[in-house]
Amino acid sequence: MLHLNAHSFLQSAYQYLAGVLPETPLQKWDFRQDINMLKVFRHGDFPRWSYVLNEVQHVATHWEAQGPIALFGENPLSPEEEESFIRQLQELHPWRKGPYELFGVKVETEWRSDMKWSRIYPHLSPLNDRMVLDVGSGNGFYGWHMIKAGARQVLGVDPFLLFVLQWALIAKMIPLADRFRNVVLPFGVEAIPKNCMAFDTVFSMGVLYHRRDTKQHLSELLGFLRDGGEVVLETLILEGDDKRCLYPPNRYAKMRNVWAIPTIPLLKQWMYGVGFQNVRTVDVTRTTVQEQRRTDWMTFESLSDFLDPEDAQKTIEGHPAPVRAVLLANR
Ligand SMILES: C[S@@+](CC[C@H](N)C(=O)[O-])C[C@H]1O[C@@H](n2cnc3c(N)ncnc32)[C@H](O)[C@@H]1O
Repeated sequence: MLHLNAHSFLQSAYQYLAGVLPETPLQKWDFRQDINMLKVFRHGDFPRWSYVLNEVQHVATHWEAQGPIALFGENPLSPEEEESFIRQLQELHPWRKGPYELFGVKVETEWRSDMKWSRIYPHLSPLNDRMVLDVGSGNGFYGWHMIKAGARQVLGVDPFLLFVLQWALIAKMIPLADRFRNVVLPFGVEAIPKNCMAFDTVFSMGVLYHRRDTKQHLSELLGFLRDGGEVVLETLILEGDDKRCLYPPNRYAKMRNVWAIPTIPLLKQWMYGVGFQNVRTVDVTRTTVQEQRRTDWMTFESLSDFLDPEDAQKTIEGHPAPVRAVLLANR
């Protein structure tokens, strides 16, 4: 019975989004029907996760996106309120993308995603009034930054239900005026209508190397963009000026699902090959243990466990350690 509330919260978000889409080329997309078909909310942990969504009643009076996403209430939480709030948030462990500061509670996520955002944001075409797609959005952390940067609507998609519920919890606490301007749907990229040309900016960050068919992913991203629109592609790369690609035979940094890590010249060739124009690299950064680490909010293994203990330039399997690049391009 209780988790009906979480359901009705999600339904309000979907209703809001359904009101936005008719003004876009996605007007015929019945995403609610697609969600029903996927039966995503039958996940065994859904009742436990959605219970948290029902319990938490705090709503911010204002919020900020300067590094962490920070929510502020009229009054500070009492020690008892804070203790039970932390317990509720911890039910949604692991918190990977953030950080968040929620009514004084610092959610120190595995990733300092604010560091990635600060590397990308200065290079973006202004997001003002843009319709944005964030493929593999996780819990929607970047979407809140995009809203503060002026985006009209952000649509995130992520197939991992826990991250969708983390987004829902944050959204529930965001002031009503902004709450549904950043919506995360429980979909993989494959659920978005192909060649819809509906978005002004499309982000694909940390997704390409997880896709078995790299060129197909690039081609899908192109199809989501309107003419002249901008793609933001962030992915693992190999350093070097030549055209090479690592296809890890087994694991890469203990991950089973890493398919391709190209050099930048090869990645650019792939992007031009599917039809992107004006491809340019705006950032190359080695991932550090300052940016990705184990915390009280993500207690599983993290970067330091994935690197060779004797040589931090290598993964534990002997591959080059993670270096990530950001490329921008246009349709
Ligand atoms: C490495 S994380 C990157 C998260 C975030 N975009 C970032 O850059 O920090 C990859 C994300 O892609 C999601 N993902 C996995 N398969 C996907 C798919 N088929 N379509 C969209 N997202 C997917 C995962 O659940 C995960 O949240």
